[in-house]
Amino acid sequence: MSKLKATMTLDKSYQIDKVDERIYGSFIEHLGRAVYGGIYEPSHPQADEQGFRKDVIELVKELNVPIVRYPGGNMVSAYNWEDGIGPKEDRPRRLELAWRTIETNEVGTNEFVDWAKKVGSEVMMAVNLGTRGIDAARNLLEYTNHPSGTYWSDLRRSHGYEEPHNIKTWCLGNEMDGPWQIGHKTAYEYGRLANETGKAMKLVDPSIELVACGSSSSEMPTFPEYEATTLDLAYDHLDYISLHQYYGNRSDDTPNFLAKNLTMDHFIKSVIATCDYIKAKRRSKKTIKLSFDEWNVWYHSNDADKQIEPWTIAPPQLEDHYNFEDALLIGSLLITFLQHADRVKMAAMAQLVNVIAPIMTENEGRSWKQTIFYPYMHASVYGRGISLKTVLSSPKYDSRDFTDVPYVDSAAVHNEEKDELTIFLVNKHLESTMPIDIDVRSFDGYELVEHIELVSDDLKAVNTVDHQAVAPQQNTNSKLDGGMLTAQLSKASWNVIRLKKGRN
Ligand code: AHR
Repeated sequence: MSKLKATMTLDKSYQIDKVDERIYGSFIEHLGRAVYGGIYEPSHPQADEQGFRKDVIELVKELNVPIVRYPGGNMVSAYNWEDGIGPKEDRPRRLELAWRTIETNEVGTNEFVDWAKKVGSEVMMAVNLGTRGIDAARNLLEYTNHPSGTYWSDLRRSHGYEEPHNIKTWCLGNEMDGPWQIGHKTAYEYGRLANETGKAMKLVDPSIELVACGSSSSEMPTFPEYEATTLDLAYDHLDYISLHQYYGNRSDDTPNFLAKNLTMDHFIKSVIATCDYIKAKRRSKKTIKLSFDEWNVWYHSNDADKQIEPWTIAPPQLEDHYNFEDALLIGSLLITFLQHADRVKMAAMAQLVNVIAPIMTENEGRSWKQTIFYPYMHASVYGRGISLKTVLSSPKYDSRDFTDVPYVDSAAVHNEEKDELTIFLVNKHLESTMPIDIDVRSFDGYELVEHIELVSDDLKAVNTVDHQAVAPQQNTNSKLDGGMLTAQLSKASWNVIRLKKGRN
């Protein structure tokens, strides 16, 4: 058995790419209690003048979320965006088919843009390519982005929004490969529609960026042909291809579960290869970037969701209660994004509030942080700068579905403006502390600021509204001496080691 010790070398010049901060994006869908009872609850004691919960706004700000995808998700594929604009009392109630609820339309495009400003985020807007198409998409874009002097832009102004919203990032539908999707399409049908919709939208506003649907998971039988066909048919109008994947732990096999970032890594590499194959086929100079705009752990709430009555308003759908081992996998998935900083330019943790989310609320009551809140916050707050290639040697293990799984996952980000280096590490060993020696000699004059860790003796520990069983703490065993950083990574732990250039 190999000795339990890891070593790593970091060098300023081993640069992968600048981290696009939008990899720390998230997602709010009109689903369950994400909008109603989540971000919006006019009757709540902490509601602001628009009905948005100020306690939730503060928690989202703590996460420093740069972009939020909206309004779906499966919901967008039968959504009439016009239902959500204008005087609230005139807005229709509709059957929401994707999740079989009642949609009141109290919150729509303008309110969401207002909310996003309050939390300091951009909006990533999805258009309906399920039941609708080119016309609804180009009208919505004219409504949000055209300054004035046309039917849709003047309608926006009449609704109290004199200035255009200038939404820059647009998703051409959602998971159109999925047979569950309203208006599901073959790759050929979708690729043609994405091309024509993209063309019209870029005529309305050439400054926008477009994300095409890829596969709704790497297990879909049509993956990666769906991506290849879509890209081939719509390449000239596209900037990004989307990836979606949720990770479950139904067999309760923790070592296997914690290795699932390898699935994400393989998925990303396969999509890059597919994009570059079509680039070569089309003799194009343009490189398509990746938007991993739905990712998370999702399975805890599957049984509870079967009990929910249809056609109710904002039922508690997809309310996963995340445990400690979920937080560890989230850490490894964030590390995977940083390792692919050159191609993964956007991502969205799905979702943000109540629905498979880091933030939970009680109706009319308190709000609180799930276990997964912490790695997401640490990466978002400290993981901005240049992503560095970590040269890591780690002992490995085999699990049911994976071989040669490194016990340690690692990423590092150098923030040149702030003269800070942050090292993110997960130790997947469930029984042993993992000593690690890290050569940081190229960071001359840097000092150790802190070593934050997330640990728990109970892999299944969950946070609740009353008790934060899992919360970050300081690991005081790390030392930096002569450019060599030595640390003890606690068994089953998420670690954030922060260095900063000293004054002298
Ligand atoms: O995030 C929950 C759902 O998962 C989304 O609506 C859909 O796009 C995906 O299947």
